[in-house]
Amino acid sequence: MQETFTLRKFKPDDLQKVMRINRVCLPENYTDMFFMDLHERFSETFIVAEENREIVGYIMCRIEVGLGSFGLGGLIRKGHVVSLAVLPKSRHHGMASALLEAAMAGMSNYKAKQIYLEVRVTNEAGVNLYRKVGLSITRTIPGYYSDGENAYVMSKKL
Ligand SMILES: CC(C)(COP(=O)(O)OP(=O)(O)OC[C@H]1O[C@@H](n2cnc3c(N)ncnc32)[C@H](O)[C@@H]1OP(=O)(O)O)[C@@H](O)C(=O)NCCC(=O)NCCS
Repeated sequence: MQETFTLRKFKPDDLQKVMRINRVCLPENYTDMFFMDLHERFSETFIVAEENREIVGYIMCRIEVGLGSFGLGGLIRKGHVVSLAVLPKSRHHGMASALLEAAMAGMSNYKAKQIYLEVRVTNEAGVNLYRKVGLSITRTIPGYYSDGENAYVMSKKL
């Protein structure tokens, strides 16, 4: 498919637009300070997608230290996808897949050896998307979300 969008790193001027996409697309919302903190600490993995010069999607991640899976022993650096969304009018253009690929490439700058995220067990679009870019379900967290829904943890070795 012909790509109709471009990706670039988040800039502080993008904050209100990204916060709006977050509110429109997801029940998990955050303060402006939370977004800016992740931009300041992990700018390589906070990426926006533009279509017709308008921001229509973003991915925001954090690098953490934790126990590795996939035979990666001991404590390792992991890239945690905190939030990912694409406005409804721009979905099915391959944008979220491209944002994830770009974030995984960005995670290598922080020497992350694994990517992981949580996704609602009923979020079919999300689970299919993550499978498509190579993540698999590694566990389930009961009652992870504030409304009581369970989360799948999905991961991939980088
Ligand atoms: C999930 C979301 C980010 C997907 O964005 P997108 O840009 O449309 O995704 P892509 O075009 O890259 O799709 C990649 C794959 O994801 C899967 N997918 C995407 N939307 C889907 C849907 N509505 N139903 C089932 N599978 C879907 C498909 O496997 C698709 O591959 P295909 O096009 O070859 O069939 C978007 O629907 C969204 O913002 N949803 C609300 C927020 C959200 O759920 N974020 C993730 C929270 S963990």
